[in-house]
Amino acid sequence: GKVCLAYSGGLDTSVILAWLLDQGYEVVAFMANVGQEEDFEAAKAKALKIGATKFVCVDVREEFVEKILFPAVQCNAVYEDVYLLGTSLARPVIAKAQIDVAEQEGCFAVAHGCTGKGNDQIRFELAFYALKPDIQCITPWRLPEFFEKFAGRKDLLDYAALKGIPVTQTKAKPWSTDENQAHISYEAGILEDPNTTPPKDMWKLIVDPMDAPDQPQDLTIDFQKGLPVKLSYKCNKTGKDVSVTSPLDVFLAASSLGRANGVGRIDIVENRYINLKSRGCYEQAPLTILRKAHVDLEGLTLDKEVRHLRDQFVTTTYSNLLYNGSYFSPECEFVRAMIPPSQKSVNGTVRLRLYKGNVIILGRYSETENLYDATESSMDELTGFLPTDTTGFIAIQSIRIKKYGQAKKDKGEK
Ligand code: ARG
Ligand code: SIN
Repeated sequence: GKVCLAYSGGLDTSVILAWLLDQGYEVVAFMANVGQEEDFEAAKAKALKIGATKFVCVDVREEFVEKILFPAVQCNAVYEDVYLLGTSLARPVIAKAQIDVAEQEGCFAVAHGCTGKGNDQIRFELAFYALKPDIQCITPWRLPEFFEKFAGRKDLLDYAALKGIPVTQTKAKPWSTDENQAHISYEAGILEDPNTTPPKDMWKLIVDPMDAPDQPQDLTIDFQKGLPVKLSYKCNKTGKDVSVTSPLDVFLAASSLGRANGVGRIDIVENRYINLKSRGCYEQAPLTILRKAHVDLEGLTLDKEVRHLRDQFVTTTYSNLLYNGSYFSPECEFVRAMIPPSQKSVNGTVRLRLYKGNVIILGRYSETENLYDATESSMDELTGFLPTDTTGFIAIQSIRIKKYGQAKKDKGEK
């Protein structure tokens, strides 16, 4: 039978490819272009050389921005306060493209190179089963006949040599990465000690804030219904005014400006779905900027109670569902459907400054929304309601609070 393997061109998936052939399968090597820096032609040549029947690369960059990344910005998605979910967000689009290829090529199974200790295996497999319930998943790193044979890196290298698989990286990087247009992740290897500061040359996408330009980069982002629709800036190098409007262009412009100005590096210890803690470093420039601008505009344009309910329920639930690999699930459909109605009034413009790793808000305005009334809110104006109205408001609020204070006092509690 034919198997559609998610192929990365690296050592692990090259060995998996050769091993699947050894087991008697025919293999279609699948790759998704999610905006990672990658030599797709070299990966294709390598897969075919190892013995894949076919190499299929699907460009999902636009779909990734429009269907997944922008809705994540729209609901301020974030995991454990800092991780903007770059890997988690890419998985649904990649899994969908892989299932499409498996169907087109008549594959009875899909295979991947995720380890048995991570989140990605769960994300991929739950997505596969939701999209094609009768698909079979071949997961070498969870099969004893595979993981017992390849217990260490040396076993992989020996097998690669045996099969004539070119090992391009002579000296492997002492960590593992996952890259797409939203971010790059670094985990494992020397990073497993949470107190080891990553070496300066690990970071590959974002300029070190210490080396970022002295001249700040200002930009303007327009939102409609919570979606970024335009990004404008004056290029510091050419002095030219630049303005982009397509979702992918907006996303990539935020990315390159952020990367050049040191914006979006984090170093965390996170809780994986499988209940292990894991240390990870991430470079997440575009989502850092877009999310911060979006949060700011909500301050001006979004109703207080809608915002608070959305924060408590939609943002947290949606973020957890994405992290835990449940994008294609009834509960995620339900929660996703709550995002657009929360964003009807999030229309306006945010002005920002990027400076040595910081995203600084310079101001915001909306031509259409009028929830904020400067006169009404002014400390210098007696309009809207009377100061005596507030006396009544506090009197009512304090009924319960006085009882609480008295009860504590009566019991001698501090
Ligand atoms: N810990 C992050 C997450 O679960 C990054 C995972 C990186 N995946 C990888 N195959 N290297 O979203
Ligand atoms: C892996 O274990 O394959 C990568 C890390 C993760 O999925 O969390």
